[in-house]
Amino acid sequence: MQAQTTTHADTQEITDLILQAAEKAQAETSHEPEPALTHKVDWPVACTINHGLDGAIANETKIGYVNGSKGWLIYRGYNIFDLAAHSTFEEVTYLLITGKAPTRAELDEFKQKLFGYMGVSETIKHLSALPIAKMNPMAGLSLGVNILRHEGEGVDNLDAAFRLVGGLAAITGAVARTRAGEKPVAPDPELSFAGNFLYMMTGKKPTPTATRIMDVALILHADHGSNASTFTAMVVASTLSDLFFAVDAGIGALNGPLHGGANAEVLLVLKEIGSVDKVKSWYEQARAAKRKIMGFGHRVYKAYDPRARILEPLAAHLAQGHEEARKLIDIAHALEQEVISTLGAQKGIFPNVDFYSGLVYQNMEIPRELFTPIFAVSRVAGWAARVLEYVEDNRIFRPRAVYVGPFHDKFTPIEERG
Ligand code: SDX
Repeated sequence: MQAQTTTHADTQEITDLILQAAEKAQAETSHEPEPALTHKVDWPVACTINHGLDGAIANETKIGYVNGSKGWLIYRGYNIFDLAAHSTFEEVTYLLITGKAPTRAELDEFKQKLFGYMGVSETIKHLSALPIAKMNPMAGLSLGVNILRHEGEGVDNLDAAFRLVGGLAAITGAVARTRAGEKPVAPDPELSFAGNFLYMMTGKKPTPTATRIMDVALILHADHGSNASTFTAMVVASTLSDLFFAVDAGIGALNGPLHGGANAEVLLVLKEIGSVDKVKSWYEQARAAKRKIMGFGHRVYKAYDPRARILEPLAAHLAQGHEEARKLIDIAHALEQEVISTLGAQKGIFPNVDFYSGLVYQNMEIPRELFTPIFAVSRVAGWAARVLEYVEDNRIFRPRAVYVGPFHDKFTPIEERG
């Protein structure tokens, strides 16, 4: 992919922030040992497995790699910093799902297709007739995906993938507008995917800066190895169920605060702390109570999450000139220092993608309950990519459990059980 492009000439300051973060990451991590788990394997594979499938190897993939020791993230061979600085969510989605960096003609055709699927008026019409304004927004996404499935019954996996990428953005837009007491809006052909996504959530045409930052956020959340929601989608697909059901299951997994819902919790924590001078006492109490600090820690990263390295300067950029937003960033920086100097040094616990993503979305005036749906609108690209790859060489997922219960109990009729 071209290193220097004019794709983002109107938001060069955002590109510069990302490139500065990339330089800092390179300087701080290039000494780390080379990554593991990057060579072809001969099945069966020996691996040491801990509770929660920690350490388990489920499959081989060419889609993406999370380098836990360095804190690097790769999509189909490309470094996440390069993609965030120079690419677009449409281009990254095409790359993840098809395995190819598109030509200009291929990308233009793909954008047209996505735009068409963002229109899904039948789905939105049926969805809007349901009580989605009062529901958990992720339940609204799940309903929408199942209506979308009905419309997409029998299409091939690639078409289903593109329908889901365009459709999930439209469904999230409709959920957002309905929750705000407004009617859903149709996409505008003049806007990009990220621009239309913001427009369909808010009803307002976004600025170039807001559009670019949403585009970067969508790129950053698109894929991340065999995380809980991606693995869930793969398990469903491995039974030869279809991609719509697999994505619906991924939505359910992403809803949990240990996975997709932490960024909203981070904002509540920062507001609970209230000021920089209260960070230390708050943190000491949280540690004493063995409380998990939201937005920190990761099953794979034992280093700073590269996505947080990019989201932090974007959150700070958006907070410029806004006192309340600036205050929350300062509290976040102080909390980060407290955690890194203790849990970071002791257990490799650093900020993850959720620590700054909520501040970015709040500074874009996006309601907290939409943070996880935004994650899903992006991650559906990774879910689809990994499902399509896995079913090419499918084998149903079926791990074992160690049975530690009793044997040979004598059956007693209920009347005699007291
Ligand atoms: C994402 O998997 C992915 O790739 C996820 C993701 C993606 O893109 O899909 O990257 C998305 O990163 C979101 C993660 C958002 N969740 C949070 O921020 C919630 C807070 N984080 C933790 O709950 C935790 O770190 C997890 C869930 C993210 C990871 O959990 P693990 O790998 O199962 O780690 P663990 O709970 O077994 O903890 C290991 C140790 C424990 O201490 P000990 O019992 O060994 O003494 O580390 C401690 C934990 O107490 N620990 C934390 C902590 N995270 C781990 N202590 C305080 N605060 C934390 N956040």
